[in-house]
Amino acid sequence: METTEAFTGLSCVDCAGAFDAATATHRCPDCGGILDPDYDYDRVDLTPAALAERPFESMWRYAELLPFAPGTAVTLGEGATPLVDCPALADAMGVGRVLLKDEGANPTGTFKDRGQSLAMTAARQHGAEEVALNSAGNAGQAAAAYAARADLDAHVFLPSRAGFTQKAMTEVHGADLTVADPMDGSSQIGDAGAAYADAMEDHPDWYSAKTFVTPYRHEGKKTMALELLEQLDWEAPDGVVYPTGGGVGLVGMHKAAREVRDLGWTDGLVPMYAAQAAGCAPVVDAYEAGADRHEPVPNDEVDTACNGIAIPDPGASHLILDAVRESDGGAVATTDRAILDAAIEVARSEGLEVGATCAAAVSGAFALAESGEFGPDDTVVLLNTGAGNKDVDALRAHLGEREAAAEGEIDL
Ligand SMILES: Cc1ncc(COP(=O)(O)O)c(C=O)c1O
Ligand SMILES: [Zn+2]
Repeated sequence: METTEAFTGLSCVDCAGAFDAATATHRCPDCGGILDPDYDYDRVDLTPAALAERPFESMWRYAELLPFAPGTAVTLGEGATPLVDCPALADAMGVGRVLLKDEGANPTGTFKDRGQSLAMTAARQHGAEEVALNSAGNAGQAAAAYAARADLDAHVFLPSRAGFTQKAMTEVHGADLTVADPMDGSSQIGDAGAAYADAMEDHPDWYSAKTFVTPYRHEGKKTMALELLEQLDWEAPDGVVYPTGGGVGLVGMHKAAREVRDLGWTDGLVPMYAAQAAGCAPVVDAYEAGADRHEPVPNDEVDTACNGIAIPDPGASHLILDAVRESDGGAVATTDRAILDAAIEVARSEGLEVGATCAAAVSGAFALAESGEFGPDDTVVLLNTGAGNKDVDALRAHLGEREAAAEGEIDL
C-alpha cells in the first residue's frame, strides 16, 4: 500500500486494538468495532503557512492528514467548497454571523463525494474489483461515480423512498442498482441494508463502502472541518450545525478539529450540533436523555421528508454523542414544517439552495438561537451537506401546501 508518512494504521474505537491497514480493511478483526485511521502527528509535515501556498482545488490538499498519498487518489476534484456569508439569516437568527458551507458544489452534489473518494482509493489499494454499499441515496450515487472513476464494479442498494435523481444517476454511472422491497416508496434504509447484507453473504469478495464499515468514509469527510477552519483562518466558529443521519460527517469533522487543536493550529474544538428531523431523531432523544447510545426508532414510526437523515438506527450513535458532548455542542430536532419553511427562507433571503435534509440544520440553528444557545456575537456555520436540487420534490410540495393554506383550502 502507498500510504502517507504519518499514517500508522487503524485502531478500534471499542477495544482499542491496533491493526495493519494493509490487512485489516473494514471492521475490527477482534471485536467487530469501528476502525479509525491513526497517525503519528510528529510526522505530519504540514503547517497552515504551507497550506496557504497550495491551490484551493480539492480535499487532497490535506493529504498529510489522510492515509493515502495524492498520487493514488481516486478523485473528481471533491472538496474546496465555498463558505458563503448569509447576512439575512444572521439578522433573522439574531447572531453575529451565519456562514453556509456549501457541499452542494461537490462533483455529485453532496459531501458524500469526500468519503467515497477516500473509500474508493482504499478499495483500489486493497485490490478490490467490486464494491458494495447500501445508502439512503446520495452515498449510493457518489459511490457509483467514484467506482466508475476507479474502474470498479459497484453494487448499490437503495430504499424505494430514495430520490429519483439518486437512483437514476447510480445507474447512469453504470452501477448495479437494487431498490429494496417494498417498491411502493415505503422501503427504508434498513430494508436496503437487509438486501445488501444478503448479497454480501453470497459475494464475500465484494469490498464494502458502507458507512462506518469502511474506516475511510468518516476520514474523508474530516476534510470538511480542515477546510472550514482554514477558511476561518484557523479560528473555530461558535457552532457548526450538521444535519445528522449516520453521523459520518459529524464524527469525522470532530476528529479533524481535535487533530488541528493538538497540532496547535487552533485554540479549541469546534462545537458540533447534531440537527435531526423530529420524525426521526434517535440521536437527539439520546442526547436529551443523557444516554451514551440511541434507542432505534421503529421503522413504522419514521415520519419525515428528509431522506438523508431518516436513519432510525445509526450504528455509531455513541461516537456522535461523544463528539457533541466533548465539543460542548448539542443536539436539536425540529418539525418537517419548520425544516421545509427554513429551506424556502434560505432560497428566498439568500438565494442559496438547500435541500429538505440539509434544511434541518437551518431550522435547527434557528431553534438553538431561539433557545439562547447562540448569541449576538456568535459565528454559526450551517453545513449544507448537499445541493438543494437533489431533493426538490418535498420543497415544491411544501410550497404547494403553503399556497393552499393561504387560500384557506387546507390547514397546515
Ligand atoms: C444530504 C445529506 N445530508 C446529511 C446526511 C447524513 O449524513 P451523516 O451520515 O454524515 O449523518 C445524508 C446521508 O445520506 C445526506 O445525503
Ligand atoms: Zn475491536
